[in-house]
Amino acid sequence: MERALRKRDEMKYKRATSNFLIRKKVLRLSVFLVGLLFLTESAFAETQSMPACLELLQNRCQSCHYLNRVCQKLEEKSKRRWAATLKRMVKRRGANLSGEEQDFLLDCLATPAPDIKQECGK
Ligand code: HEC
Repeated sequence: MERALRKRDEMKYKRATSNFLIRKKVLRLSVFLVGLLFLTESAFAETQSMPACLELLQNRCQSCHYLNRVCQKLEEKSKRRWAATLKRMVKRRGANLSGEEQDFLLDCLATPAPDIKQECGK
């Protein structure tokens, strides 16, 4: 009788520990998956922002003049002068850029991204 009881307790103990181990494994796996998701997402965000600059230039600036006009001034203008140029393109010439897009483009122009340099042959 006592032996049977002990056997039952042993079984209970085994089940409890294996449940615990499974839970621990699941937890570890989900931490890993969440981490992976986070990593791929931030990598994705980075690759997303890279072509966006060039795309903006291609889509919003070429309607009036060749990109060449922008390229000529690449690495020539200071950030302040680029800000003034962008403002003029929007306010005086009628370029279609939101304030956010202007800020974004300003950074790409002041410190040209590799894809923009490449497009400009610099
Ligand atoms: C609606 C027409 C139009 C659009 C769109 C436009 N531009 Fe211009 N851009 C002009 C005109 C007109 C000139 C020449 C007169 C002047 O400089 O204001 C010019 C000249 C320039 C110049 C040479 C003059 C300088 O200040 O260095 C640059 C650089 C330039 N644009 C950049 C841009 C950029 C960057 C964009 C896109 C965000 C853009 N432009 C969009 C009309 C436009």
